[in-house]
Amino acid sequence: MNVKIAPSILSADFSRLAEALEAVERGGADLVHLDVMDGHFVPNITIGAPVVRSLRRVSSLPFDCHLMVSEPQRHIDDFLEAGAQMISIHLEADPHLHRALSAIREGGAKGGIAINPASSAELLGDALDYCDYVLVMSVNPGFGGQRFITSVIPKITRIRGMIASRNVDVEIEVDGGIDVATARSVVDAGASILVAGSAIFGKGDPVERIRAIRMAATTSLV
Ligand code: DX5
Ligand code: ZN
Repeated sequence: MNVKIAPSILSADFSRLAEALEAVERGGADLVHLDVMDGHFVPNITIGAPVVRSLRRVSSLPFDCHLMVSEPQRHIDDFLEAGAQMISIHLEADPHLHRALSAIREGGAKGGIAINPASSAELLGDALDYCDYVLVMSVNPGFGGQRFITSVIPKITRIRGMIASRNVDVEIEVDGGIDVATARSVVDAGASILVAGSAIFGKGDPVERIRAIRMAATTSLV
């Protein structure tokens, strides 16, 4: 399987985001993951559409905007206009997934459904027919640098089964606690997009960190 690496800039130095984007592009990242938090759906506040719009000018990688906000449908147009190629909304935050996902797709971006660790895979249900990817949270959203929750691995497997039985073209993205130790397990379960924040923007060179995670995710253990 072709694995995509999506560095989350949440753990980068916010005063030097252009340099962070340049480094991940040099490191062969496939996407840039942008964590949008509103201090309401999650405890933290991060960035909004104006920052995404500015960063759009300094990167040629696709932008994957993860909206951890209440009433996300109110903000979809802003992120489309800011230049997002992928926008995910939490199923816990919006009872009108069909409407929100349709708006994202009609705006020319891929629509994703994000799902918290304690939310059952079965809640995705019919909404799998209306999305391009599922963002499986492997930590509780709100902060970078948390420990990977291993019980999401069987959930990823279940979601992969639901996607296969519906015969839909839906990718699985995993977000939270991904590093060289955990990457392989989520790929084996069915994920093809790996978000990593602190494992890329912690200590060391982001270019090397991306290569190491890709190697760990794709190298056969047998
Ligand atoms: C958490 C965010 C993640 C975060 C991941 O709420 O959605 O994208 O940046 O950070 P790490 O990889 O450090 O767990
Ligand atoms: Zn995220």
